[in-house]
Amino acid sequence: METIPSLLEARLRAAVENAEGVEVSVTLASDTRFGDYQSNVAMVLAKHLKANPRALAQGIVDRIQVSDICSAVEIAGAGFLNFRLSKQWVQARLEDLRADAQLGVPEPGKRRTIVIDFSSPNVAKPMHVGHIRSTFLGDTLARIASFTGFRVVRDNHIGDWGTQFGMLLFGWKNLLNQDALEADPLLEMERLYKVVSAQCKEVPETLEAVRAELVKLQAGDLENLSLWLEMIHLSQSQFDSIYSRLGVKFDVTLGESFYNERLHKVVDELRSLGIARESEGAMCVFSDDAVPPEQDPFLIKDKDGWRANPAMVLKSDGAANYTTTDLATLQYRMEKWHPEEIIYVTDGRQQLHFRQFFAVFNRWQPELAKQVRLSHVWFGAILGEDGKPFKTRSGETVRLAALLDEAEERAYSIVTEKNPALPEEERREIGRVIGLGAVKYADLQPNRQGDYVFSWDKMLSFQGNTAPYLQNAYVRIRSIFRKLVDSGAIWEPGAEIVLGLPAEEALGKKLLQFGEVVLQVLSDHRPNILANYLYELANTFHGFYEACPVIKAEAGLRPSRLELCDLSERVLKTGLGLLGIEVPERM
Ligand code: ARG
Repeated sequence: METIPSLLEARLRAAVENAEGVEVSVTLASDTRFGDYQSNVAMVLAKHLKANPRALAQGIVDRIQVSDICSAVEIAGAGFLNFRLSKQWVQARLEDLRADAQLGVPEPGKRRTIVIDFSSPNVAKPMHVGHIRSTFLGDTLARIASFTGFRVVRDNHIGDWGTQFGMLLFGWKNLLNQDALEADPLLEMERLYKVVSAQCKEVPETLEAVRAELVKLQAGDLENLSLWLEMIHLSQSQFDSIYSRLGVKFDVTLGESFYNERLHKVVDELRSLGIARESEGAMCVFSDDAVPPEQDPFLIKDKDGWRANPAMVLKSDGAANYTTTDLATLQYRMEKWHPEEIIYVTDGRQQLHFRQFFAVFNRWQPELAKQVRLSHVWFGAILGEDGKPFKTRSGETVRLAALLDEAEERAYSIVTEKNPALPEEERREIGRVIGLGAVKYADLQPNRQGDYVFSWDKMLSFQGNTAPYLQNAYVRIRSIFRKLVDSGAIWEPGAEIVLGLPAEEALGKKLLQFGEVVLQVLSDHRPNILANYLYELANTFHGFYEACPVIKAEAGLRPSRLELCDLSERVLKTGLGLLGIEVPERM
């Protein structure tokens, strides 16, 4: 199904004269008292033609043919056009929506590919809350891209090659506690890493030995390579258990080490093309003055003005780095999958890295660069209730597995309190669905670029903009259908939809917005748009449910109201599913 904004845009385009080069766009009305959708096209056009916007708007209103869709098109303010949908049209469209497996979400991605690089934790370090956001955001974007028809390549670019392995190898050979390793490999590897890195600061011999281990590994020493493989293997199995618990899937896991043999070729090409040059023993890329300084990632401003801020592609010790690896990886992805977009999901501190590396790629591979949209989808930090980076009471980084355990446990207690009569097993399962849902939703609901405060009480509350609130809305609808069956009635789906009361009309219109909301999430990479839509939908549903009895409705009104309930249930479940959140049958 085409979305409502795109239907209206087509009608508008036909009614606008001299519109070449002018973007015709229709958005949801910011204030529903004046209409359901709005457009500023008359104002944009007026600027373009240096004409009076209200007069242009009037011309458009006179010419536009939308009487089948709208009951009114009005001019407001400086020249806004407001569209009000007609009740008949909304009713008919709801019937189409009901028949649509996509619930109104178009599939523009057919025969197109998106690569999503997300989660990407580092080997031999436990996944902690910092990886939460990349995993949740990336998973949601992947679900949405795939729902809208794209072929999606979910790529876990794990950090399996780096200086940490010098310390880990040294620690493994000299300080390993075998029992601890068997009990919790990541915890033990993390301990080794910490102990050795502290020792390196105090004992010069340790630092030497650590460097030597790294050099041996890089030179292909068999013992070190096999230990390294073992560490990767142990880490991967812990990552996998978290992913399966979270319902997160990857199509490929190609760690940094996969690109090792391509790195020197990248550097050689950059050098011979004159893109990289030597600087203080390292190979670096400097500004080519192609853009104004404010937009130039290779310049930085300090008190003396602009100065060079080069991107290093080869360190003075001859080792390639994160940037080199990302360049090689990007070339590989282009050759392998021909994607039209690659999305990288990492925290905001990597913004400069991505701006530089995208710019280097554009200079190195201009032809490939033209074929792809490179998007760095970055996010802020998770804070504790004290406003500082989220830590355990004793000041340690919070481990993801422990966090998820606590979420499930807390949700289980809440469910037990509210519903002690349910069988234990069911309460556990509901606790799992609510607990994981709460953690995911708390992460996806805020604007990703801000920091957010991690608060158990807030995220597990049944009131407010939370996962439990949305899951509860779903559960309430399910219970309407259960009561109906208990009362001996039968539900025959497919009845005519009649929007009698304003609350019914409001719900109907909200349901119709699902398609455009999902598309917008994909173009802006902002799952919070979907989260907030679902929250509004749940609120609108509650408003409808208060104003319009369903089970006790008079016989003539009931079938249509049941249709609205059923559609609300489907949109809520599908929408939460796109956020990676499950729904319980009761709670
Ligand atoms: N392993 C990196 C980290 O933990 C994230 C990698 C992101 N992806 C990329 N292609 N650079 O910070």
